[in-house]
Order: sequence, then C-alpha cells, then structure tokens
Amino acid sequence: MRTPVIAGNWKLYKTTGEAVELVGNLAPLVKHARDVEIIVAPVFTVLGSVAKAVAGSNIRLAGQDCFWEEEGAYTGEVSPGMLRDAGCSHVIIGHSERRQYFGETDETVNRKIRAAIDGGLSVLFCIGETLEEREADKTFVILKKQLSGGLAGITREQLDSVIVAYEPVWAIGTGRTASDGQAQEAHSFIRETLSGLHGKETADRIRILYGGSVKPENIKGLMAQPDIDGALVGGASLKADSFAAIVNFAG
Ligand code: PGA
Repeated sequence: MRTPVIAGNWKLYKTTGEAVELVGNLAPLVKHARDVEIIVAPVFTVLGSVAKAVAGSNIRLAGQDCFWEEEGAYTGEVSPGMLRDAGCSHVIIGHSERRQYFGETDETVNRKIRAAIDGGLSVLFCIGETLEEREADKTFVILKKQLSGGLAGITREQLDSVIVAYEPVWAIGTGRTASDGQAQEAHSFIRETLSGLHGKETADRIRILYGGSVKPENIKGLMAQPDIDGALVGGASLKADSFAAIVNFAG
C-alpha cells in the first residue's frame, strides 16, 4: 500500500553535460519500472537542464536543500518556489552533511520543511544518528528529537507531503550499510514515533526510506523489511547502471 521511493542524491557531483548524460542513460533503464517513484537530486545549477532531459519520463526531480523565505535579500539561497520553477517536485531537507558542515539544526530544518510544503514541494526529510550516538545507546533518543523538532507544527495533512529518510551517519559513504535488522529496528521506531505524534493511520501511510551505502547488492534485503519503503542513494546513484539496478530491485 505504500509505493516505494528510490531517490538519488547526487550531492556535489555532475556538471551540466555529465548530469544530462546520466539521466539520458538512466531513463531507458528504468522506463518499465512500475509501482516505484524515481527521484534524482542534482545540484541547483543543472536543475533546468536535467528537467528538460527527464520531461515525459518517470524520473522526478528534487533540490538538495532550500531556504524558508520565498524571496528577499538572502544571498546564496534558493527558495521552494524557485525549485518548483526549475522543475522540482521534491526537496531534500536536513541531510546529515548539511547538519554537520552547514550548521543545520532541528529548528532550521523545521522552518525549511514548513516552507517547502507551503510552496508545494514534497519533502525528503533526513534524520539519523552518528556512530558516537549509536555506541552510547542514544539512537532512539536522537531519532525522536530530530523527528519531533523537524516536524514541529506540521499538521496531519501536511505530513502527507513528507517522506522520512533514515540515514545513520556512520553508514553514509562508508560502505558500511546498516544490517537489514538494524535498519528495520530504526524504521519501526520511527513509525511508532510518528504514530504517537500524528496517529497510526498517518504513520502507516508515510514512506520511510533507508539511506547509507545502498547498493544493488543490498537493496533486496532492505526492501524485504516491513517498514522500509525505499532508499535514498548517494554514491550508487552517480552511475546509471547501479542506480537502475536499485530502482529495479523487484525485477
Ligand atoms: P551513500 O549516501 O549512498 O553514498 O552512502 C547516502 C546519502 O547521503 O544520502
């Protein structure tokens, strides 16, 4: 009942030519994918070109971040409306790299999520614990804090525009994926927490993606878990064949 989502986070990679080539190679490999939503998140500067290249395909576009104001004197920022204008339907908010290197907090994440939804975007809302937090047995405390902080003031209806991405920081870009069991345990906790915040019906509808060293070799096991509804993929989304193999996990 929850349609899986496979999203590629391209991070700070791919110039215009490389990005257009990548989606050009990807589109035919995933065109028969049924019952899965496919999203790619390129850098801002190539969004317009990639939007043209994916027009008419089943690939949708996401920004990697956005600001909470629609316009104004905010040098360097990009607003939800501008992402829509560039062809995005989604935006990633709260990625651990933004929390770690760019001072993103639960409060700024919350402001961005609310603005993005108001601006008509669906949000890929990232949460996840560091290795230090996991080893100190703080995983659930951190997840709960990030969820309640990030979603403060969000209504039940607005939550329908949110996709949660659980990305343990220690698994991102390290080749060290969470085991299927570790991921399922966290996802189940996230769904329970959402149920406490917004009711079971809403929590049962929301998609929770796993992220952190997802590859063609481990996607099947992850997707077999009852509370894992897709993946947010970094490194393996930079090549058409590996990302297509993840999209086509069921095939
Ligand atoms: P990775 O990145 O797949 O390269 O670990 C995932 C992410 O940061 O979204």
